[in-house]
Amino acid sequence: MNPSIQKLLNELEEFGQKNRGYFNIPASTGKFFYNLVLISKAKNILEIGTSNGYSTIWLSEAIKQNNGKITTMEISDFKIKIAKENFKRANLNKTIKIIHGDALKEIPKLKEKFDFMFIDAIKKDYINYLKLAEKNLKKGSIIVADNAIMFKDKMQDYLNYVENNKNYSSVLVPIGSGVEFSIKVK
Ligand SMILES: C[S@@+](CC[C@H](N)C(=O)[O-])C[C@H]1O[C@@H](n2cnc3c(N)ncnc32)[C@H](O)[C@@H]1O
Repeated sequence: MNPSIQKLLNELEEFGQKNRGYFNIPASTGKFFYNLVLISKAKNILEIGTSNGYSTIWLSEAIKQNNGKITTMEISDFKIKIAKENFKRANLNKTIKIIHGDALKEIPKLKEKFDFMFIDAIKKDYINYLKLAEKNLKKGSIIVADNAIMFKDKMQDYLNYVENNKNYSSVLVPIGSGVEFSIKVK
């Protein structure tokens, strides 16, 4: 990890702890995703729920090393503005494409294929984000969904879907708030 990016991530982590409204993933989850992107050699990430860009920076630092890119979606004008400032500070503008809007309306417009998806917006809609994105997910794609322990009840339909579906191989990873880690096997 580039030391200046690590410094920015540490700063944003501290900021997120003081400003809970950004709902950032914990650093341990960020490192887990960073490692997953590197080991999977993913090339194209779709992230749902940018907030101020903390998780996007973790993912981007890894995908950059794979010569890949990331598309991230966020509905809040205010958070997009802060995320853009953070991406500029991290010099990641070329790696990150921001889609400003409602993911439920924006995902169906996507034409490209992805091999890594991170879901972290409205818990009850996780299942809808995934179902809408399925046409864009390559066989072998990794899908990670945050808060699978903390908000298990709110995303139970998502968990049932990925755990009882021959198209997915899924396991709950007890890291941070809980990450449901799935591979699209078909
Ligand atoms: C948990 S936060 C994301 C945190 C971020 N992934 C991180 O770890 O730094 C969820 C974000 O999803 C956004 N959001 C909620 N509904 C959305 C929707 N329908 N489309 C796009 N973004 C949405 C919220 O504005 C919020 O910023």
